[in-house]
Amino acid sequence: MAVNTDEVLISHAEIEQMLDRVSAELNRDYNGKPLVVVGILTGAFIFTADLIRRLEMPVIVDFMQVSSYVGEYSTGELKIKKDLSVDIKDMDVLIVEDIIDTGRTLSLLKEQLKQREPRSLKICTAFDKPDRRVVDLVPDYNGITIPDEFIVGYGLDLDGKYRDFDDIRIVRKE
Ligand code: IMP
Ligand code: MG
Repeated sequence: MAVNTDEVLISHAEIEQMLDRVSAELNRDYNGKPLVVVGILTGAFIFTADLIRRLEMPVIVDFMQVSSYVGEYSTGELKIKKDLSVDIKDMDVLIVEDIIDTGRTLSLLKEQLKQREPRSLKICTAFDKPDRRVVDLVPDYNGITIPDEFIVGYGLDLDGKYRDFDDIRIVRKE
């Protein structure tokens, strides 16, 4: 089956506007307070890099790599492939994700990170697909809401490919 990525859903200019808006909201809300930014690998590496350069407060940047799976006897389990290097106790923490789909990954991650007793824990996502949500999870900061399509580019991949596109494209299988 061939994959077609010709259809642009979100242009690079729209992504830049989104970055300006989301960073302005963060700068307003955190108002100069130090922030620990937790980028979720691999998809959020570009969004994290673009966002932190627009933030005005002091930031510590770290990354986690996680995945979720639905086990035979559970509603969902989190696998941590790479954990944080910093201690987040009593810190203001912002999880930065590429896209929220079912919401399973971030709701499990949020529960885990809460146990480390941060002062606050919020979620910022570049893209949100609320139509596919299976758990109750609403991001505190959302870049762009998208329809129920599989998208690539700006860090998002299909089998490791297309992360380098500077716009967002819809994947069509033909
Ligand atoms: P969920 O919210 O737990 O379902 O998982 C979200 C993760 O699935 C994201 O971090 C992405 O890695 C991946 N994902 C979901 N939708 C897409 C998409 O449209 N394109 C690329 N990756 C996606
Ligand atoms: Mg991901």
